[in-house]
Amino acid sequence: MPEWSVKNPYPATISENYILNGEGSRKETRHIVFKLGDSGLEYKAGDALAVVPICPPKLVDSLLETANFSGEEEVDTHQGTCTLREALTHKYEIHRVSKKWIKSLENRISSNSTPIEIQIVSRQRVSTIDGSVMIEWDLSESDTEIPSDYEVIDPHSDSSIALWNELVSDQKKMEDYIWSRDYVDALADFKNVGFTPQELIEGMDRLKPRLYSIASSPDYEPGTVHLTVAIVRYNHHERDRTGLCTGFLADRCSVDDTKIGAYMSPTRSFILPENKSTDIIMIGPGTGIAPFRAFLQQRELDGGTGRNWLFFGDWTEEGEYLYREEMESWKEKGVITKHELAWSRAGPEKVYVQHLMKENGEEIWNWINDGAYFYVCGDKEYMAKDVHSTLISICSEFGSMTPEESKEFVEQVLMKKEKRYLRDVY
Ligand SMILES: Cc1cc2nc3c(=O)[nH]c(=O)nc-3n(C[C@H](O)[C@H](O)[C@H](O)COP(=O)(O)OP(=O)(O)OC[C@H]3O[C@@H](n4cnc5c(N)ncnc54)[C@H](O)[C@@H]3O)c2cc1C
Ligand SMILES: NC(=O)c1ccc[n+]([C@@H]2O[C@H](COP(=O)([O-])OP(=O)(O)OC[C@H]3O[C@@H](n4cnc5c(N)ncnc54)[C@H](OP(=O)(O)O)[C@@H]3O)[C@@H](O)[C@H]2O)c1
Repeated sequence: MPEWSVKNPYPATISENYILNGEGSRKETRHIVFKLGDSGLEYKAGDALAVVPICPPKLVDSLLETANFSGEEEVDTHQGTCTLREALTHKYEIHRVSKKWIKSLENRISSNSTPIEIQIVSRQRVSTIDGSVMIEWDLSESDTEIPSDYEVIDPHSDSSIALWNELVSDQKKMEDYIWSRDYVDALADFKNVGFTPQELIEGMDRLKPRLYSIASSPDYEPGTVHLTVAIVRYNHHERDRTGLCTGFLADRCSVDDTKIGAYMSPTRSFILPENKSTDIIMIGPGTGIAPFRAFLQQRELDGGTGRNWLFFGDWTEEGEYLYREEMESWKEKGVITKHELAWSRAGPEKVYVQHLMKENGEEIWNWINDGAYFYVCGDKEYMAKDVHSTLISICSEFGSMTPEESKEFVEQVLMKKEKRYLRDVY
């Protein structure tokens, strides 16, 4: 069986691709089912699937047109020689201009690396052997009066140079610039810079696979891998844009048709307790629900006595209660022992999962004190940090620890030593 990997992804097809949100929701969260076919790919609840996106063909066409290339030109890439079209489609992230690419314009945009000052430039006509006339530019500093055959060039009158200087000397401006622009935007802004096909791709970010927490158990959904994907859509500079992989999955992957490169990214740590009588607490708002759907499927099949406490949350019950029917059925069957739902945009006050953790602080402490595993999945930047500090304050309050002792307990004992506080955050 071939070893499927980033260098050799399995060309999977999908059997389902639908929106999980209720009507009127402003979010687009999709359930996507990959068929494993005869790949031999195996996984366990908790693993992630790596998906290799393909750049939008329309964006590739626009980029080639803007750069005035046919796409048939040959270029050298980190993965060997191919046509420019192939490189822009499969090998580089063309939907977002990179800092490196902008910085690499330095040699072609100006002979100066420092901010350019007004210079006096002299033009010299030089006759060549074949009789044609060439103009040579002689850059020289001068504080003398400008002779009549000299020309003053203000580099800032060339907007490309002015913009380039601004971006490379101001990190914030650079971040703002690349946040909302792709290479079609950048070529328009740097239209005075000449490119060979090879120069066009130099400095572009290499195309990277994206990871998705698997939302199924292989025993419950044999032969398939289910994903819960939040589609990233935005509009900048009057053009609708998408995240590279989520746009690909949402807009250009048809059921039983499109081949999608994929391979497994197994976890060693984000796994269910071996002992099926161990209780688990799962905190998974938004797409953070994905691995917990897998865990709940597995726990149902395993039939152990361990209790399952799920904290889920999103904007509204009507629009973003992902997998409502399954969750309610699990609740009825007792697979979900306790279920907390935090709707952040349903009323005047934001309700987040950590608010419901606080309300249930004493019971959470009792479960943890009795050996429960504590799992968190979803947003790394805000949610996971707030859940972490809430857990510390719960353990401090109900476990009679000082805040410092509680921090030590959560971070050293639960996380590191006993490995029962586990996170899958992104
Ligand atoms: C271990 C792991 C598990 C994951 N599991 C899941 C999962 O189960 N489900 C899921 O949906 N995702 C998951 N992700 C995230 C996923 O890998 C991708 O990062 C995500 O789908 C975005 O990919 P993309 O290619 O569509 O976006 P990209 O093209 O990579 O762009 C994403 C970037 O767009 C930026 N962005 C957002 N809004 C705007 C805007 N308005 N303007 C400009 N830029 C903007 C974001 O900051 C982000 O940096 C997981 C990540 C990891 C590491
Ligand atoms: N660009 C886009 O269009 C777009 C769309 C969806 C998701 N995303 C990104 O994709 C990723 C996954 O999104 P997702 O759909 O899984 O949902 P998400 O954005 O993580 O939101 C899920 C829930 O978590 C809430 N939340 C926000 N901050 C929180 C905090 N500090 N603590 C606890 N809960 C918090 C949200 O509330 P509020 O949102 O009401 O604050 C929402 O109810 C996120 O990183 C998100 O930024 C981007």
